[in-house]
Amino acid sequence: MNREQRIAELRRRREQAQAGGGPERVAKIHAKGCLTARERLELLLDPGSFVEIGTHVTHRSTAFGMERKRIVGDGVVAGWGTLDGRLAYVFAQDFTVFGGTMSEANARKICAIMDLAMDNGAPVIGLNDSGGARIQEGVLSLGAYADVFLRNTLASGVVPQISAIMGPCAGGAVYSPAITDFTIMVEGTSHMFVTGPEVIRAVTSEEVSFEDLGGAMTHNSRSGVAHFIARDDADCIRHLKRLVAFLPANNVDEPPRGPTDDPVERRDPGLATIVPDAPDKPYDMKDLVRRVVDHGDFFEVHEHFARNLVVGFARLNGRAVGVIGNQPAVLAGVLDIDSSVKGARFVRFCDAFNIPLVTFEDVPGFLPGTQQEWGGIIRHGAKLLYAYCEATVPKLTVVVRKAYGGAYDVMSSKHIRGDFNVAWPSAEMAVMGAEGAVNILYRDEIAKAKDAAAERKRLIEEYRDKFASPWAAAELGYLDDVIDPEDTRPRLIAALEMLRHKRQSLPFKKHGNLPL
Ligand code: HXC
Repeated sequence: MNREQRIAELRRRREQAQAGGGPERVAKIHAKGCLTARERLELLLDPGSFVEIGTHVTHRSTAFGMERKRIVGDGVVAGWGTLDGRLAYVFAQDFTVFGGTMSEANARKICAIMDLAMDNGAPVIGLNDSGGARIQEGVLSLGAYADVFLRNTLASGVVPQISAIMGPCAGGAVYSPAITDFTIMVEGTSHMFVTGPEVIRAVTSEEVSFEDLGGAMTHNSRSGVAHFIARDDADCIRHLKRLVAFLPANNVDEPPRGPTDDPVERRDPGLATIVPDAPDKPYDMKDLVRRVVDHGDFFEVHEHFARNLVVGFARLNGRAVGVIGNQPAVLAGVLDIDSSVKGARFVRFCDAFNIPLVTFEDVPGFLPGTQQEWGGIIRHGAKLLYAYCEATVPKLTVVVRKAYGGAYDVMSSKHIRGDFNVAWPSAEMAVMGAEGAVNILYRDEIAKAKDAAAERKRLIEEYRDKFASPWAAAELGYLDDVIDPEDTRPRLIAALEMLRHKRQSLPFKKHGNLPL
């Protein structure tokens, strides 16, 4: 081969790699309204920044006539590039090549970029679109999955890991996304399940469609497996970019900080009236959050799951923060099993990646009922408590209205190392609400009173005046101050500045025993 021939061979092989499974299979992908693996990466990364590894890799399988079917790349495109100038490691399963299935050879590419991500401290973004374990490779493929799972686990808390589900993701394959920090699913074209509808029908006689079983909305609203839902592939990529913009590159990096033209001193008059006078009247916590953070930009995580707790990312004076707020507009903002787990996971992510926590509290307590008790609210509620106790990032808390019972302690109280705890004058902080307390404390007096209803009403009002306020907590120093709601933004930003170099450590241990 002369020089020209060698270059021609290089070109031919490169073209082969670009072609994936060929035009027919690519057309099928497009007909579904999806993009190919390479098109997805092109949209995700800054133009010209993608550097591919293992471009020419093929499998070594000879079973089932596989020696006659070798396709360059072997079903995954992997490498690195930049998102808005910031390094990220990426892989995209190519459904046009053996259905994007996991093989020994393509898993090595995925593992290689995960190893690079760990060594160099940058996020891993996986675009999943795969028929699962490559049947022809048998246990080799299962081993390949395990190699990925191990790396997912070792990388957890070291570099952010994000999974986009942009096609099928079935069987044990689901456990890689499940270990990663965030999962985005595309509406209509992505599915996740451990066992599919046919197996379910055979085993339990249940009839369920793919969509109901493991579609994007199912996992966003019912199971909580997915954190975001996207309309289509392009929307999914937009979500990925937006999410990454809030995150540091790794666990010893600071979250990105940029200038903002939203004034630090901006006072929002709308905050003065956002909490209704009647204690049982709802309002939208997201409205409150938007009035405080930079440009009203709140990127909600788990929007459709456990909506009684709101979590997401925002910025204060250009600095990324994790926001947690009880949502009085859903179930009165009560804490239940799902919201406790949702909150705990978010708090732990932020803590792992140096993202300060800002908590807006309006919680009447934990949800009563046998369903909750038997479902393990004690165990699950403890997760949220544990997560807040363990967190060493700056913790800022604003008690907006209710802070009752155990929920008061849990929601980033002073006692569990809250750094800056303030309340609005509308705050109610006590062991329990007025009705419940009066029923217990004055049962006999009410029973003996001539007009029991009037006496009960009088006692409730008396209790409310005495205890349903921030003042007892403020006098004890459990609050740093009671603030004018309009001042919330400048006060939080000032505290965040003060806590800029906060360093706090945990006692030496192998790891704690989070109540799972
Ligand atoms: C080998 C596979 C494959 C698999 C799909 N293909 N799944 N090849 N192993 N697991 C191939 C098909 O033969 C086909 O090849 C190409 O990928 C596209 O598949 P189609 O069936 O034509 O596509 P579609 O109709 O869109 O259906 C997609 C699908 C279906 C829903 C994913 O292929 C399917 O049900 N596949 C099996 C899924 C599954 O049960 N996987 C194992 C899960 S258990 P050609 O050459 O015709 O293009 C598992 C264990 C992991 O993964 C354990 C980890 C611990």
